Amino acid sequence: MSATTAASAAYIVAGLLFVLSLAGLSRHETAKAGNAYGIAGMAIALVATIGLAWRNGDALAVGLIVVAMALGAAIGIWRARIVEMTGMPELIALLHSFVGLAAVLVGWNGYLSVEGAPAGEAEELGLPVGIHSAEVAIGVFIGAVTFTGSIVAFLKLSGRIRSNPLVLPGKNALNVGALAVFVGLTVVFVVSPGLGVLSALTVLALALGWHLVASIGGGDMPVVVSMLNSYSGWAAAASGFLLDNDLLIITGALVGSSGAYLSYIMCQAMNRSFLSVIAGGFGNEGSTTAAAVEGEHTEVTAEEVAQLLRDADSVVITPGYGMAVAHAQNAVADLTRTLTDKGVEVRFGIHPVAGRLPGHMNVLLAEAKVPYDVVLEMDEINDDLAKTSVVLVIGANDTVNPAAAEDPGSPIAGMPVLHVWEAEHVVVFKRSMSTGYAGVQNPLFFRENTRMLFGDARERVEDILRAL
Ligand code: TAP
Repeated sequence: MSATTAASAAYIVAGLLFVLSLAGLSRHETAKAGNAYGIAGMAIALVATIGLAWRNGDALAVGLIVVAMALGAAIGIWRARIVEMTGMPELIALLHSFVGLAAVLVGWNGYLSVEGAPAGEAEELGLPVGIHSAEVAIGVFIGAVTFTGSIVAFLKLSGRIRSNPLVLPGKNALNVGALAVFVGLTVVFVVSPGLGVLSALTVLALALGWHLVASIGGGDMPVVVSMLNSYSGWAAAASGFLLDNDLLIITGALVGSSGAYLSYIMCQAMNRSFLSVIAGGFGNEGSTTAAAVEGEHTEVTAEEVAQLLRDADSVVITPGYGMAVAHAQNAVADLTRTLTDKGVEVRFGIHPVAGRLPGHMNVLLAEAKVPYDVVLEMDEINDDLAKTSVVLVIGANDTVNPAAAEDPGSPIAGMPVLHVWEAEHVVVFKRSMSTGYAGVQNPLFFRENTRMLFGDARERVEDILRAL
C-alpha cells in the first residue's frame, strides 16, 4: 500500500470519528465519549499527515509542522487553562478568525504557486487553471468574510466595542451589492487571473465581513457566533479543495453544516429570522421605539427573602449570566437542597440563550450536582410560573424581560422570554439597576410583585442560606 493510500484510509477513519464525535456531543450523557472520538480522529489525522510528509522525504515540511504544532499546543493549553467559562464565546470568535485567516493565506498561496507562477507550472501540476482560480476566489472570499466578521464578534463580545448594531444608510443594498461585485470579480478572475483582481476581491470580502457582523445587534450575537462557526467550516472546506485534502473537505463540511443547523435552532428559540440574521440583520433597520421604562423599585434583604422562601410551596430559579460571573452555582445548589429538605418544591427554568453560550447554565448546574430532572427548559416551565409562589431571578436580565412579550417597539420584541412576572413574588439578584447584554432596560424591576436583592449573587445566596 502506498503512503498516499494509507493516508487516505486514515483520513476516512478520522472523518468517521468526527461524525461520531458530533453525534456524541449532542447529548449530555454521551458528550464525554463524543469528545474522546474527536480527539482520536484528530490524532489519527495528524499522524497520517506527518507520516505522509515524512514518507515523501520532505524533512523541512515535517520540521515546520512539528514546530507549528508545538507552538500552537503551548498557546492553546495556556489559553484553555486560564479562560473563564464566561469568556468562551469571545475566545471561540477569535479562533474562528484564525480559520478565516488561514483560508485567505491558503488561497493566496494557491494563486502564487499556480496562476501567479511562471508559465508552464500550472500545466505541470495537471490542473485546469479555470477551476483552480474559482477555488482560489471562493476560498479567499469566505475566509476573509470569516476573518473580519470574527474579529468584530470578538471585539463586541469582549466589550471592546459597543454591541449596538451599526446602521449605515442603505446597508442591505451595500451587502447585496458587495455579493454582486464578488460574483463579477470571480468571473473576471477565472477568465484572467490577475494579482489586482484577487487583491480587490480580498479587500471587498474583508470589508463585507466587518460590515455584516457590525450590523448585528447585541441580542443576536449568540447566533452570530454559531454562524461564524459555520462560515469557518466552509472556509476550511474551500481550503481542502485547494490543497486537495479530502479530510479538510469532510471536516469543513461537517463544521459548516452543523454550525448552520445550530444557528437555525437558535434563531427559532429567539424568534428571529435565520435569513435576516445571516444577512447581517437584513430588514432590521435598528430604529427601535422602545417604551420608556420608569418607576420605583423595591429593595429587599436576604432575611426577608429567606422568610418568603420558608412560606413558599413552590420556587422556580431562573439563572442567567450573573450566576456564572458570581460563581454562584454551588451556593444555588445548596439552597435547592435546603429548600427541598424543608418540603418546598424547587425547579429551574432555563432560557435557551441564558448566559453567554448555548447550554452555559446547564453545564454550571450539572457541575454543582443539581439533579437533571428539576432543570427544565423555558417551554416546559413557562405555563407553571403563574402558579409559582416565588421566582428567584439569579443574575438574569434579558431572558426575563417582559418588554420582549409586551412592547412591540423593544429591540428584543418577539424574543421568547421566561414569564417570571406572572409568579406571586419575584426576587431579582443583581448588583445594580444596569441593563443586561442587549442593553435594554427591564420593566420587571419596577413591577409591584418584584423585589430587588442587590449585591453579588453568590454572597446574597449564602446570606439567605445562613438565614434559613
Ligand atoms: P444578561 O441579560 O446579560 O444579564 C445578566 C445580569 O447579571 C446583568 O443584569 C447583571 O446586572 C447581573 N450580574 C452580573 N454579574 C453579577 C454578579 N456577580 N452578581 C449578581 N448579578 C450579576 O443575562 P441573561 O439573562 O443570561 O441573558 C443572556 C444575554 O446574553 C441575552 O441577551 C443573550 O442574547 C446574550 N448572549 C447569549 C449567548 C448564548 S448563546 N447564551 C451568547 C452571547 C450573548 P448587574 O451588572 O447590575 O449586576
